[in-house]
Amino acid sequence: MPTVTPITPNVGAEISDVDLTAVNDAQADALRAALIDRKALVFREQNISTAQFAAFMQIFGETVKEDLVVEDGNPPEVGAIHIRPDERQRINFWHMDHSFREHPSPVLALHADMLPPSGGDTLFTSLEAAYAGLSDRMKARIEGLHTLHKATPTQNTARRYTKEQLAARERAAPVRHPLVGLNPANGRKFLFVNIPIYCRSIAEMPTAEGDALLAKLYAHVQRPEFHFRLVWRPKTLIVWENVHCLHYPVADYFPHERKLWRVVIKGTERPVAA
Ligand SMILES: [Fe+2]
Repeated sequence: MPTVTPITPNVGAEISDVDLTAVNDAQADALRAALIDRKALVFREQNISTAQFAAFMQIFGETVKEDLVVEDGNPPEVGAIHIRPDERQRINFWHMDHSFREHPSPVLALHADMLPPSGGDTLFTSLEAAYAGLSDRMKARIEGLHTLHKATPTQNTARRYTKEQLAARERAAPVRHPLVGLNPANGRKFLFVNIPIYCRSIAEMPTAEGDALLAKLYAHVQRPEFHFRLVWRPKTLIVWENVHCLHYPVADYFPHERKLWRVVIKGTERPVAA
């Protein structure tokens, strides 16, 4: 069975003793349980093809056709996050992907294809640990509140949407999510915040008051107690619970190149209020 070695007490695990190209039912159960418990699973030295990467990910749900650039020869479920040598990575902030969707992707995965000589790490924070780390007073203050999320153009969306499509995304009605979510898989509450460019406001509060509270909570989730830093090595693969984590891609490796393959699991449920 897979060996699960926690990275910090709150979040992350290194997984060994499992062949990702031949996962049996018992191993799949163990990996799903480990993901619920640890939020992010790191597999080192995975010398597998993009097709094998996509096939492995099906133990976590239905893989969807990527909306990132898909390179020739890759399955449609495998997108490329490719920063070229002459390019600066500009998505360097704590965020969750797709929180502006009614059904955000529950699980995401990345597989290292090209790495800079050093740097380009990615940090992952547990929103369950962040909720548990709030004061009782703050927990009482935020119970029952909702947030309004909207899409914002980023370095990735600029490559795949026209100006008109981006404007339509900006005009779209915001999506409402609970500020305190409940993870039905383990009964834990999580602090469902995202960077303000996506998590725009608190539905039940005047703008200034809501923005101040969101800023405070967004700063809270960034405390090092709730996160770990993934130092990529060649062929490292990570799977994480997108809705229960934020991630931070560190943009410290200019002018070097970096390419990661990404697979997204389809979102089928609205986040549940605690
Ligand atoms: Fe992201």
